[in-house]
Amino acid sequence: MTTTFPEGFLWGGATAANQFEGAYDQDGKGLSIQDIMPKGIVAPPTEEPTEDNLKLVGIDFYNRYAEDIALFAEMGFKTFRFSIGWSRIFPNGDNETPNEEGLAFYDRVLDELEKHGIEPLVTISHYETPLNLAREYDGWTDRRLIDFYERYAKTLFERYGKRVKYWLTFNEINAIMHAPLMAGGILTPKEQLSKQDLYQAIHHELVASARVTRLAHELNPDLKVGCMLIAMPTYPLTPDPQDVLAAKEAEHVNYAFGDVHCRGSYPGYFLRTLRENGVELNITDEDREDLKNTVDFVSFSYYVSVCESAAPDKAKGQGNIMGGVPNPTLKASEWGWQIDPVGLRIVLNDYWDRWQKPLFIVENGLGAKDELVEVDGVKTVVDDYRIDYLNQHLYQVGEAIADGVDLLGYTTWGCIDLVSASTAQLSKRYGFIYVDRNDDGTGTLERYKKKSFDWYKDVIATNGGSL
Ligand code: BG6
Repeated sequence: MTTTFPEGFLWGGATAANQFEGAYDQDGKGLSIQDIMPKGIVAPPTEEPTEDNLKLVGIDFYNRYAEDIALFAEMGFKTFRFSIGWSRIFPNGDNETPNEEGLAFYDRVLDELEKHGIEPLVTISHYETPLNLAREYDGWTDRRLIDFYERYAKTLFERYGKRVKYWLTFNEINAIMHAPLMAGGILTPKEQLSKQDLYQAIHHELVASARVTRLAHELNPDLKVGCMLIAMPTYPLTPDPQDVLAAKEAEHVNYAFGDVHCRGSYPGYFLRTLRENGVELNITDEDREDLKNTVDFVSFSYYVSVCESAAPDKAKGQGNIMGGVPNPTLKASEWGWQIDPVGLRIVLNDYWDRWQKPLFIVENGLGAKDELVEVDGVKTVVDDYRIDYLNQHLYQVGEAIADGVDLLGYTTWGCIDLVSASTAQLSKRYGFIYVDRNDDGTGTLERYKKKSFDWYKDVIATNGGSL
């Protein structure tokens, strides 16, 4: 295609500390909630870390970061998204002072990125609340988390603020609705969590996000802070107005998070939800002021679209971690995630129309089982299915840019194979780089380039012209 991607478009890949660093207790790191979630969100957490938890070793990025970043550079990455392990910096979350060894690790990562001219994109909190904050405070249900998070973010801005321009406050902040432990560090089991506590936790995260946005701007007006949402276009299952309304209401659940981040206050439909659920939020005057610190850009993950129906008997499907009714017109991945490239163009247009803020796609990709084979004596994976998936999605991204959407960049999820968030498997692979590690923990941790490695390299080199 003739490329529509603007000059300087930030092509790259995305990761999260808990899913690939490993080294779970190295150099003073404290435990995070992920260290007791060996099965992701499909089974309850354990009391203590257990050997079957693949995240404890991950893919050992902690010790192999230089080699991995060199591979990203070989693909031509312009940006690399990674998160900082909160409990690497503040082992218990509520410590007064940070762990210098943890801070030094990210200095080294930034050194490597700089060496290769790759722009860092940092998530401050990606599903890795320090375990102590979960145990002692029940995570974000407690207002004190706002202060702990602010102290943590301030430490990061002061240390890395001259080297990192783009920051994301909370990964998929709306995921807390469905996965309160993973996204909110809340140990109270989901079924027992009251709506009052859930919405109060949401409020605390939103205030924390706004506060650190202000802080970043105060420390350095050039810093760009974004929110990060799970984007999931929701279509009515039929043209019945009741289904259309049901779809709109489902979208509102997600829009609320972006609306607060972009408009600085709660929208009316959200307040209605609170009223109808008997929730009385504790919002201080200071909170209201804090929320006015809106983000510079909106980032999001995109994997699936879903349908919604007003009929109570419609079977719920399995889209990302958010549920929804399956769309009869779409095919699904091996994990049941429905594949909808056009949905990405729809989301881009919707978000741009709604918020008029630059957008950033910071996750997209296909989780699939890969087979390592030998081609001309070289070990690789012939992952045409992944190339096909990404090509179709990126084609739609190009169309959205032609529609007038302001898009900063695109980072594929799990540019190197890592541990899945929802199921904690390694066999659910997203990468351009295969990592030899299996679900039972065996493997050499060697890296191999997949066929998609060269494909993506070409896409970047031609700024989307090869799509
Ligand atoms: C997003 C998360 O939900 O999707 C990532 O931000 C996650 O952490 C990604 O890995 C893919 O989901 P999964 O469950 O296949 O790893």
